[in-house]
Amino acid sequence: MGILKLLFVTNLLLLLPFQLQSANTYNVGDPVPLFVNKIGPLHNPSETYQYYELAFCHPDQVLEEKESLGEVLNGDRLANALYELEFAVNKTGAALCQQKLNSGEIAEFRHAITYNFYYQLYYDDLPLWAFIGKFEEGNWTDDGKGPKYFLFTHVQFDALYNGNQVIEIHAFSDPSHAIDVTEDVDVKVDFTYSVSWKRTSTPYKNRMDRYSAASLLPILQKTHCSLLLIRLL
Ligand SMILES: *[C@@H]1O[C@H](CO)[C@@H](O)[C@H](O)[C@H]1NC(C)=O
Ligand SMILES: *[C@@H]1O[C@H](CO)[C@@H](O)[C@H](O)[C@H]1NC(C)=O
Repeated sequence: MGILKLLFVTNLLLLLPFQLQSANTYNVGDPVPLFVNKIGPLHNPSETYQYYELAFCHPDQVLEEKESLGEVLNGDRLANALYELEFAVNKTGAALCQQKLNSGEIAEFRHAITYNFYYQLYYDDLPLWAFIGKFEEGNWTDDGKGPKYFLFTHVQFDALYNGNQVIEIHAFSDPSHAIDVTEDVDVKVDFTYSVSWKRTSTPYKNRMDRYSAASLLPILQKTHCSLLLIRLL
């Protein structure tokens, strides 16, 4: 089975439990919870871990959502998060948390980056994905060192709304905000995020249309892994 087909099947499974829920409506400024879900290597959709297995910013009390059977089979483990994305409220450079990462946690992040780990979130029952970090191949002619690993520290959320409903949301890891995690050292990291809301005329009933096999590819093509993915296809 091609990776695209695999991803598609996985996503269908993943969306099913949420299709049954009723539509939410919000006023400007209403809190809309964002849940963290799972992490895993891009090239193996069946290998997943809980988001908080890596030392990401987390609430004092991590509360896990009760899962349906479909979600459990799919490796879903929804839990609360520190992100505050109020409906139709723009934010720039909001602080998520300052995290002290020890050398062991840095090594775990580096491992995840090596295997192109993505993370998945849910916002108003819509799934969104982003990458944990990136690596740059070593430049042996330069300093004789191997690859360099970078952990992304800023997430840009781009959301679309129509009237009082959320229609679309994307998360992008901003490569210009990253820390070097090549060495096992303790570091203090400020994690931040921004949110940009724009209007759309797409009706609510069509908001799931883009999660089809045909549209999944462009989502992934926006990422640094696109070349790798195309080669696999
Ligand atoms: C590798 O190092 C050489 C020598 O410093 C430099 O000219 C070249 O641009 C570097 N290549 C990359 C990809 O960084
Ligand atoms: C959010 O910011 C974008 C530009 O970055 C702007 O086009 C949009 O109208 C703003 N949205 C709201 C709800 O203020």
